[in-house]
Amino acid sequence: MLLLNLDHVALAVHDLDEALARFRGLYGAAPEWREVVEEQGVEEAMLLVGGSKLQLLAPLGPDTPVGRFLARRGEGLHHLAFAVPDLDAALAHLAAEGAELIDRHPRRGGAGRRIAFVHPRSFGGTLTELVEIA
Ligand code: CO
Repeated sequence: MLLLNLDHVALAVHDLDEALARFRGLYGAAPEWREVVEEQGVEEAMLLVGGSKLQLLAPLGPDTPVGRFLARRGEGLHHLAFAVPDLDAALAHLAAEGAELIDRHPRRGGAGRRIAFVHPRSFGGTLTELVEIA
């Protein structure tokens, strides 16, 4: 099986402290982890909302992927992430099927997880992340 389940939904925000305070106040949602991921130019927090995970992404600067996303589109839905059992196999399958991969090889995401991004053109107009779940 290629995809297991939806792992998280990610929102881009300008200010992570402000967004975390807002989600805590409105929904009682607390972060499971919070981490700077230098390689991606983001600080991220993963919130538990009921049984689902919501990721908040704030840019480390304007000249980063999330910084450019915010300048172009403002705050909002950034990507959907699906869990996969074998990321290398999933990427090989998608490449063979002609999907447009942003990452041909896995990179490191938050909490040390192996991730890769698939271009919105290959997933209904939405940036998609694959997360390997061991
Ligand atoms: Co994500």
